[in-house]
Amino acid sequence: MPGDLAGARLLITAQPRDDLGRTEGLRCRGPGPVRLPRRAVPVNREAPDILSPEFAADPYAAYRVLRDDFPLLYHEATRSYVLSRYDDVERAFKDPVFTTDNYDWQLEPVHGRTILQMSGREHAVRRALVAPAFRGTTLEQQFLPVIERNARQLIDEFRASGGADLVAQFATRFPVNVIVDMLGLDRADHERFHRWYTAIIGFLGNLAQDPHVAEAGLRTREEFAAYLLPVIRERRDNLGDDLLSTLCAAEIDGTRMSDEDIKAFCSLLLTAGGETTDKAISSLVHNLLRHPEQLAAVRADHSLIAPAFAETLRYTPPVHMIMRQAAEDVVIGGGKVPAGSTVTCLIGAAGRDERRYADPDTFDIRRGDLSADTAFSAAAAHLSFALGRHFCVGALLAKAEVEVGVARLLEAMPDMALAPGAEPREQGVFTRGLDALPVEFTPAG
Ligand code: HEM
Repeated sequence: MPGDLAGARLLITAQPRDDLGRTEGLRCRGPGPVRLPRRAVPVNREAPDILSPEFAADPYAAYRVLRDDFPLLYHEATRSYVLSRYDDVERAFKDPVFTTDNYDWQLEPVHGRTILQMSGREHAVRRALVAPAFRGTTLEQQFLPVIERNARQLIDEFRASGGADLVAQFATRFPVNVIVDMLGLDRADHERFHRWYTAIIGFLGNLAQDPHVAEAGLRTREEFAAYLLPVIRERRDNLGDDLLSTLCAAEIDGTRMSDEDIKAFCSLLLTAGGETTDKAISSLVHNLLRHPEQLAAVRADHSLIAPAFAETLRYTPPVHMIMRQAAEDVVIGGGKVPAGSTVTCLIGAAGRDERRYADPDTFDIRRGDLSADTAFSAAAAHLSFALGRHFCVGALLAKAEVEVGVARLLEAMPDMALAPGAEPREQGVFTRGLDALPVEFTPAG
């Protein structure tokens, strides 16, 4: 669990790879740990601190130092082992020796027990219960119209004005409105949902253990339960064609979800599906505004929105780090992670790994090493939805939201440009996105 920020210190315990640079297949089993030849700790580079203000301002420079010189770093303040290379983060997502037990303390206090912390059959059954709602005909026939309607409604509020902050007026509202409508909840409660998900995300990323942030997260759990449990009970008696009704009625192998299960899952949906897609949309539009030739190509051919989304997930991912817990001693990143340790997987660093991507610091929607055909499936060539058993169950929903949302924005604002003097900045360490995205355009007549 994260420790106290006061007195934060970095300890470099293990960076070396073996002489051939290999780490794969060297997992420790039993009492005899595998010993690797040690390489000297680099003398002229200091290990970046993932909790420092410099890191928050620009993590990308630090990611390079981590990948090159500290592929496995013990970070004392968070008491976790930090992985930054693509291959290592990919393995941490796919190899079952890295469990999601970390969510017992990271998320359960605010959501209750969710699918994220489950494993084995329990996870498989739960996932099979919820997954059909987020793909195929249910997504296309039931939820695509909801996505279209919400995109148009939000854009109609500002299209005649000639200017808008696309973070405040579109991105932070669109995915949450979509989920609220999908669940069949009251749109009038939007502000409450927004406040709750902001508090939950704060709790998740509270690496420095700020007590106020922790308290706000815990309060949210009670408030959300008091709000949703009566709605669930009522919905069980009056099933409709919304997602909440689907969750109430879903059954696999005789297993159904309890009221508490459904409440926890809906709470997870608000954050997992709200804040992530929100940050992805504004980052995507910003990346295109900074690359006018690619923006023109996407305007001319909306089928390029999906590749632009995939490239945004690699280049400026909404989730920069997620954690895992080692079930046993594991050799990875050139050193040993002891059983029971927390592992911090730097998705943001992996996406810029030059061992995996050509010219990784360049935003290029046509890059050959990241295909949009697989980017929204478990065969993805990026790590921003994770990989393996917990691969984002909402990836296709996110794709649909981004495709519709960005297409409607581009249509409504054919000459959209960054407002003069605007310098959108990324903020956040755990999840990361723009503080604002002020644009101007010719008002619709
Ligand atoms: C750009 C948008 C999104 C990003 C970057 C994203 C990212 C992720 C990541 C990284 C994970 C894996 C977490 C882990 O393994 O520890 C995940 C899982 C999950 N996501 Fe997403 N997500 C997005 C959109 C959505 C949407 C729209 C929904 C649904 C409304 C959603 C629901 C979920 C759920 C329920 C899980 C847990 C799956 C499981 O444990 O089996 N996500 N997401």
